[in-house]
Amino acid sequence: MARILITSAIPYINGIKHLGNLVGSQLPADLFARFNRAMGHEVMFICATDEHGTPAELAAAKAGKPVEAYCAEMHAVQAEIAKGFRLSFDHFGRSSSQRNHRLTQHFAGKLAENGLIAEVSEKQVFSIDDNRFLPDRYITGTCPNCGYEAARGDQCENCTKQLDPTDLINPRSSISGSTNLEVRETKHLYLKQRALRDKLEAWIDSKKDWPILTTSIAKKWLNDGDGLQDRGITRDLYWGIPVKKGDQPWPGMEGKVFYVWFDAPIEYIAGTAEWADANGQDDAAWERWWRTDKGASDVTYYQFMGKDNVPFHTLSFPATILGSGEPWKLVDYLKSFNYLNYDGGQFSTSQGRGVFMDQALSILPSDYWRWWLLSHAPESSDSEFTWENFQTSVNKDLADVLGNLVSRVTKFAVSKFGTDVPAGGHFGPLETALIADLGARIADYTKFMSEMEVRKAASELRAIWVIGNEYLQQAAPWSVVKTDPEQAQAIIRLALNLIRVYAVLSAPFIPDASATMMKAVGSDDWTWPADISAAMRTLPAGHAFEVPENLFRKITDEERADWQTRFSGVRS
Ligand code: 2FM
Ligand code: ZN
Repeated sequence: MARILITSAIPYINGIKHLGNLVGSQLPADLFARFNRAMGHEVMFICATDEHGTPAELAAAKAGKPVEAYCAEMHAVQAEIAKGFRLSFDHFGRSSSQRNHRLTQHFAGKLAENGLIAEVSEKQVFSIDDNRFLPDRYITGTCPNCGYEAARGDQCENCTKQLDPTDLINPRSSISGSTNLEVRETKHLYLKQRALRDKLEAWIDSKKDWPILTTSIAKKWLNDGDGLQDRGITRDLYWGIPVKKGDQPWPGMEGKVFYVWFDAPIEYIAGTAEWADANGQDDAAWERWWRTDKGASDVTYYQFMGKDNVPFHTLSFPATILGSGEPWKLVDYLKSFNYLNYDGGQFSTSQGRGVFMDQALSILPSDYWRWWLLSHAPESSDSEFTWENFQTSVNKDLADVLGNLVSRVTKFAVSKFGTDVPAGGHFGPLETALIADLGARIADYTKFMSEMEVRKAASELRAIWVIGNEYLQQAAPWSVVKTDPEQAQAIIRLALNLIRVYAVLSAPFIPDASATMMKAVGSDDWTWPADISAAMRTLPAGHAFEVPENLFRKITDEERADWQTRFSGVRS
């Protein structure tokens, strides 16, 4: 039994995530967690909400709520939707937790002790009416280059020129519109990432088995242009983790908080501590996942994320960990994803374009989405959601192939032989061939799953469903029963066992349908079918089963057209 630590990139608190976010982190992480549990490994699967930063403050202000209350509410909303998608986190934490406050302050203190923090004075725009410093992108004005009137302080959207807020003509606060702005001096902490460059490079180079997408992004940031930059890790904001050196005040940094990207990945660790707290366990219980001096040296740590998150996880977060000089676990395998596009464009949270997680669940159960998303995961390139493709996949793979097999077999069995697994006949050449074929395919499927080859695993699983159907077509128990009822019983006995095997194999992808299949065959034996010959004989003659409710329904052309229209616009 191995020990597997899995984290998914933690979603921002402001708003419900779209399907593109889901397929790039939480969903494949869940697939991998479920698979490893099925293999009998000890799994710790952690996710959380990413709660700090200006966007959270502004979203709260827009909702007319104090930011603390807003975050608490949105956390509950996201947790509920995660349940709806059957995301099997061991804990869904919050980056605003006291655990994360303490750990973030601890890391900053260690980095300072090790000479890796610089205090830098800089000039920043202060909005007198808003009584706050404004991040560059929250300053609006006229672009000096093209005259566009709504250019942002970091970049003009119209002509794409990179700007400094002081370049803008008639600058104003994007928060209040106030022009009562001045430039003030403020002090910030910088993490001296450059000092850690060689260590980071050696560590990245040691990861021979990482996907090319991951290493190429990491190397690009390590080497491109000016190379790895020192990073500001503090902000002049109200909402965040107060800057402290461990549990001591940090002179000159009063009223400032850590930058959201500094504390967010630390929440992976803090979230595990929150898990221990929530389950009445002591510190040793979470430290054995994270501290190599406290039992974590036999843990393998996997991270899942979209490609935009890779630089933070291959450089900044490891810089925090390595720079602390303490024996914290570093990621062993980083699985990153490209983007999922939506019907000829991009999914966009800010523009409300695409299908969002709550909307998806309001029209179809989670298995339908899980199957489509995972079987089309944007692994080697970006992929695209279209309603036609979704309809075809669901109708063919789930309804025609898997659902149909289960319903045909159980209905036929009940009508001819009653509700017990029939005892007659023996497995012949067709059955032996199917079992051999299944054995080989399950071995491939298991390998793809353990390598996180999500699409390849999905297509192998589909092939496993297909060969079951082909077998039934050939074996044709509905004809055989007329001439050789004993043989028809053997076929049905095998087919009922096949349903149980399908339940086990399919559970990481479609957990609800798998539970329905398992219940229908009256079993609770979720053992991975490593020995397929034994697995196909698990349900003995005389064992009771039932006809399950329909596993999947088909999506009609009318529904497809309706959804296509309904989700073509912009969500407000
Ligand atoms: O891109 C995002 O959605 C970020 N909230 C991911 C943070 S992952 C980690 F650092 F915690
Ligand atoms: Zn411009």
